[in-house]
Amino acid sequence: MQILGIDGITHGVEDLPACRQFFLDWGLQLVDESAQALDFETLNGCQVQIRAASDATLPAAIESGPTLREAVWGVASAADLDALRVRLHDLESFRDEGDSLCCTDPNGLGLRFRVSRKRAVTVQGVPMNQWGTAPQRVDQRSHFYDRAEPVEVGHIVFFTPDLDAVVRFYIERLGFALSDSYPGRGAFLRCAAEGGHHDVFFLQLPTGKRGLNHVAYVVRDIHEVFGGGLHISRCGWETDIGPGRHPVSSAYFWYVKNPGGALAEYYTDEDMLTAAWQPREFESRPENFAEWAVLGGLDGQTRRQKHGPAAESATLAGQAGRK
Ligand SMILES: [Fe+2]
Repeated sequence: MQILGIDGITHGVEDLPACRQFFLDWGLQLVDESAQALDFETLNGCQVQIRAASDATLPAAIESGPTLREAVWGVASAADLDALRVRLHDLESFRDEGDSLCCTDPNGLGLRFRVSRKRAVTVQGVPMNQWGTAPQRVDQRSHFYDRAEPVEVGHIVFFTPDLDAVVRFYIERLGFALSDSYPGRGAFLRCAAEGGHHDVFFLQLPTGKRGLNHVAYVVRDIHEVFGGGLHISRCGWETDIGPGRHPVSSAYFWYVKNPGGALAEYYTDEDMLTAAWQPREFESRPENFAEWAVLGGLDGQTRRQKHGPAAESATLAGQAGRK
């Protein structure tokens, strides 16, 4: 039994029109909509469902306000689903819906497991010319993205008041592997021994907060992180922090405030791990969150830091230069 990755997510939201615009600007495809429901997809068919928070069919919310109400995990086959049924059936929250299995994790989040509905996609990152390898782009200009088109949802991050309980659940019940940790504070978990650095990350704060921190969308390459971030900024959505780079996973990131709850992240170029990987322990401090990062983002028009002094000082420098 092996879980392949995130097959879909469902947000419960308060402002459907704002979410409709946000996820269109974010670069998802709107495949179905009604007065109370929006169904988006990433390039590989990972489902992003937006529902009214008042929708009685949704699993219970783990916090007030807009947030994630369900995470859907994909497996390869019906046999894998059968194996998972054996591992989960004694949970009090377990529900068998035939083609999918449901339960609640120790953090209170609704989980669903099903045979993956994602599609294989052939999109490629931009060829790069780097020292030490044969040039990948010759007599050819590089690509400049005017917006992002996320390939899939790559990972989700939650605050939890009980880190030990969620880590035990994901490892022992679901077969996840620990990739790295902030001991006593956070755990990066991947759903299979071989794959991207983390599919889920849990963070325990001294306040005991429970809730969503962010949903992260994989894009093709670093140029798409920048192009997508600049586009979403031009559309008027507010950056929390980004662009930047994570030392723990090596990924480049850009986090934007999401009307569907918490933050949405564009990321690319995370470390790929195998069973040979040895989990490392990090101290939870800003330098381990970001090697570098732009707080508040880049202005989508001028490419200068939002809320920063750069634009004004550049103007003053320009005036000084003209005197
Ligand atoms: Fe992330």
